[in-house]
Parts: sequence; C-alpha cells; structure tokens
Amino acid sequence: MRRHLLSVDDLTTDDVAVLFATAAEMHDVQRRAVKKLPALRGRTVINLFFEDSTRTRSSFEIAGKWLSADTINITGKGSSASKGESLRDTVLTIAAMGVDALVVRHGASGAAQRISEWVDASVVNAGDGTHEHPTQALLDAYTLTRRLGDLADRHVVLVGDLTHSRVFRSNVRLLTRLGARVTVVAPPTLMPSGVEAWAKQDGFATSWDLDAALPHADAVMMLRVQRERMSGGFFPTAREYTVGYGLTRDRLALLGDEVPVLHPGPMNRGLEIAADAADAAQSMVLDQVSAGVAVRMSVLYHLLAGEEPA
Ligand code: NCD
Repeated sequence: MRRHLLSVDDLTTDDVAVLFATAAEMHDVQRRAVKKLPALRGRTVINLFFEDSTRTRSSFEIAGKWLSADTINITGKGSSASKGESLRDTVLTIAAMGVDALVVRHGASGAAQRISEWVDASVVNAGDGTHEHPTQALLDAYTLTRRLGDLADRHVVLVGDLTHSRVFRSNVRLLTRLGARVTVVAPPTLMPSGVEAWAKQDGFATSWDLDAALPHADAVMMLRVQRERMSGGFFPTAREYTVGYGLTRDRLALLGDEVPVLHPGPMNRGLEIAADAADAAQSMVLDQVSAGVAVRMSVLYHLLAGEEPA
C-alpha cells in the first residue's frame, strides 16, 4: 500500500482484498471482552477534524486505541484555526510534535492531498469537501461483501444528493472496480454536472427514476441531502424530494425484504429515508458503523505497521 490514503485510486484491487482480510480479523477483536492489540504501540495518530463528525471521528479514534496507538482529537472549533491560524501552520505545528498519522476531515476538496505534501506523516483522508471519503467507501464495500459475497455483477443503486456527496464519488469508483454494476439516481438538480462523461469512463449508469431502478437492485445506498453544502434551492420542498427520491415505505415494498439498505449516516429521517426503511431488518446502517471500526483498524494497521498481524 502507498503511504497515504487520499482517494480510493490509491488502492489496487489487491490492496482492497488485503484490507478486507485484515478488517475481518479486526472485526473479531470487536467481539472480545478485551479489545486491544499491541500492533501500533508507540505510534501516534492525530484526528484533525475541521468539519463535524460523529461516526467517522470516533471510529478512527477507537480503531487507533484498539491497536494501542496514542490517539488525539483536534477539531476546527477549539483549535487555533479559530484564531486565524492557516491550515498549513496548524498542520506543521501538529506534525512538529512527532506524529505518525494524520486523519483529516476538511471542507475543502483537495485539503488532505495538500496536507500530505507538507508533512512526513501518513495522511488519511476522512472526507475532503465534495471530493472523496475513501474509508467510507471501503467500509461500505466491506459491509456489502459480507452480506452479498463477491460483488461482481451485483447491482448497487446509489440514491440522493450526488452533487454534494464525497461518499458517492468514492463509492462509485470502488464498487465499479470491484466489478459491481452501479446505477446512481438523483433529481436533475442534484446530479453532478458532467456526470455523463464520467459515467461512460467508469462504467456506471445514471437515472432520474428511482422507481424504475429499485426492482433491479441487489443493494440500495441512500445518501444524505447535504443542506449545509447547498447555496440555493435544489428542490422545491422537502416533501417533493421525499415523493420523488425518498426510500419510503412503499418503495421498501418494491425492493423486497432481502435487499440490503445502506446509509452512511447521519440520516435525515423522513427526508431521504423513512423510519420504516432505516429501522427495517434489512437496514445495514449499524453494520456499516461497526464495520467502520474494523476497516479503519485495518487501514491504520497497513499504513503504519505494514505487516500481517501476528
Ligand atoms: C458522510 C460524510 O461526512 O461525508 N458521513 C460519514 O462520514 N458517515 C456522509 C454525509 O455527511 O452525509
């Protein structure tokens, strides 16, 4: 594996297979009473989060701790960034303390890449603007693989606010690389401009019609409507969005009860996903969270220790 994980493009298919195999071993640690491996003892991992986060930040922290690394959290609010310090100065300050890995979330696309050019530490992109979120894509694909087996020729439907979604961008790349057939569904206003050329290049389908896509899905991934990134009106009313693109109770029936439903969280219940779907037996939302810890343990392990676990 490369030294940084900035994009799913940093990973070969072999890397993904190795990461998943290690994640499966790490997953077993999660079920133990004593959740501690010595693999990263003496290593320091800093979570540097300039955007809000519940699951990504805490799962990176837990992952580091279970591997015996020293983990520290720094958030935009409460750091000197709020006193006007530049990103570069903040990052160089932290790096000067002698850290082994920086896990970065930032509102600007490309921020993790820039940071990786400034420091010697390994950098993991935990979400940069509307660009990429590689560990989310890994944990989603890992969750799907555990549920469906090999993803080759499986049909995964991604639905929602694609324009603002880094989860979509990382997922579509990784899933197609793993051989899945992918259809992405959004209203025209939330379909990224230029998506047609990209769809052709990466080999995925686009659609405005959710009801047409659902009956052919082997898995459905709902994506959050990211109001905090919207500058104008992308749809007339919340109700209208739900009617056209929400995973409602009726649409859940269209899916059948075997088809897994994923959502990276946080969910807007009642907007892109109805409570019936979020809480259904086929909902994988909490499986994704628990897989997130295992996958992040695997990523930190391979970036920092680099050998198979003893
Ligand atoms: C996602 C993110 O931050 O990009 N959340 C997450 O990491 N679980 C998706 C989102 O915010 O909608």
